[in-house]
Amino acid sequence: MIIIDSPKAMRDWSLQQRAKGNSVGCVPTMGALHDGHLSLVKASVESCDATILTLFVNPAQFAPHEDFDQYPRTFESDCAKCQAAGVDVIYAPKASSMYPEHYATYVEVERLQEGLCGITRPHFFRGVATVVTKLFNATLPDKAFFGLKDGQQFTVIKRMARDLDMGIEVVGLPTVREADGLAMSSRNQYLSVEERTRALCISKALFAAEAAMAQGETNAKTILHAVKTTLAKDVDEIDYVSLVDGNEMTPVTTINGPVMLAVAAQLGNTRLIDNIRFEPNIPASVKPAREGSLSC
Ligand code: PAF
Repeated sequence: MIIIDSPKAMRDWSLQQRAKGNSVGCVPTMGALHDGHLSLVKASVESCDATILTLFVNPAQFAPHEDFDQYPRTFESDCAKCQAAGVDVIYAPKASSMYPEHYATYVEVERLQEGLCGITRPHFFRGVATVVTKLFNATLPDKAFFGLKDGQQFTVIKRMARDLDMGIEVVGLPTVREADGLAMSSRNQYLSVEERTRALCISKALFAAEAAMAQGETNAKTILHAVKTTLAKDVDEIDYVSLVDGNEMTPVTTINGPVMLAVAAQLGNTRLIDNIRFEPNIPASVKPAREGSLSC
């Protein structure tokens, strides 16, 4: 495994791989790697000849009052995990090479970036779409792997790659959860023991809603009310609970196609997000069975 920090050296390496006929997979991250990231690496290693993990805490996706300075930076242990997982290159560019003086170019994905997290974090998706474009331009991947925990981010990036003819297959992989249901996130380490216990209400509420939808509940109002009622008992603040069209990220009133039920909530100083995707008319036998009821 090698570490590359300049966009030009990264491009040269990928061009060499492509010249040899090797397919290239890219796993964009901000480091502080957990099993969710490693599931993306595994998928890349299994389906591509070469795997690049990008590691860059992107200032453009944080507002001044957010946790850019506090964001966990664990470079040594990230390198060890990548090495063990079969990563070929860690691309860890410096902020000065990503955003040189007089930097002026940004990528925006209209509509999809506006709802959900875009309401309280209006800078966020512009920062993500811009940095991911730059990471793609340096790594030149055939495939790029993202976790579906960041469901809106995945949808934004997939649409961006399609709209801008990037020729990259954007792959979304299931959220990896702790044994008790908490979605894995680098930000979980901000939680106190007491906050972490309370945070479990998020996955519980989502699983209960998923069970209700699987049993035929199609009314968004009913589902949203139940999720909000469960969350209100344990989180400090609900940022949003939304049921949206799975592709367009627009609110739905009735479930009659693929949807995403998404939550953002504050526990102490930590903002957590989680979601489930649901598609009606799939036989119950092929859906994952989960405990939970909507009686809240
Ligand atoms: O999901 C993340 O870790 C980041 O938003 C990403 C996609 C690496 C862009 O900085």
